[in-house]
Amino acid sequence: EAPRPLAGRHVLITAGPTHEPIDPVRYIANRSSGKQGFAIAAAAAKSGARVTLVSGPVNLPTPPGVTRVDVETARQMAAAVDAALPADIAIMVAAVADWRSAGEATQKIKKDGSGAPPPLQLVENPDILATLCKSDRRPPLVIGFAAETNDVIAHATAKLARKGADWIVANDVATHTMGGDINRLHIVSAAGVESLPELHKDAAAAALIEKVVDVLAR
Ligand code: C5P
Repeated sequence: EAPRPLAGRHVLITAGPTHEPIDPVRYIANRSSGKQGFAIAAAAAKSGARVTLVSGPVNLPTPPGVTRVDVETARQMAAAVDAALPADIAIMVAAVADWRSAGEATQKIKKDGSGAPPPLQLVENPDILATLCKSDRRPPLVIGFAAETNDVIAHATAKLARKGADWIVANDVATHTMGGDINRLHIVSAAGVESLPELHKDAAAAALIEKVVDVLAR
């Protein structure tokens, strides 16, 4: 029988993008396939954890043994994360839109013929990871992700402090990560940086969960 080192633990994972409606047919979103987050959910479930996967709009099957909560917007994702607490481990992989439209039009915005585009006023979305880290129900291990195109480690290190997470897992999205199957993860924590080799997202997920298991066993 396969070892189940995360048996009895609740792992909360966010994945995918969020969609922030502008009107009934248009939205603002980040580019995210959800593949890495879903792979991490699958790996956590395989390790015996109870897994709650809060997912934005993606085109992926639910991994076996995972409880999935589908959301569309950042505010819905924040509420779903809150509703899923308490958790032992939180892994926030979602590419949450930083801004949403200040006012959502109830009807499709039409070109008015003047050639002038409609004004688009943005407001900031809640930071789900930072909010969770400050919460009195903060999981003992909180892991954030950072998709960066440059100075990957430096940005992740800054993010660690700013968000209040235990680890920031940085990935370089300048190359081939987005929507692809290969990822290179750098795990940044107070202990330093551990860079994994280029791996299939499933193998990268397994390596990350293995590190979680190691740390919990200490
Ligand atoms: O600084 P940045 O927003 O890129 O940090 C990314 C990390 O923060 C990811 O773990 C992401 O899931 C999380 N995040 C969040 N809520 C936001 C923005 C980012 O949870 N509104």
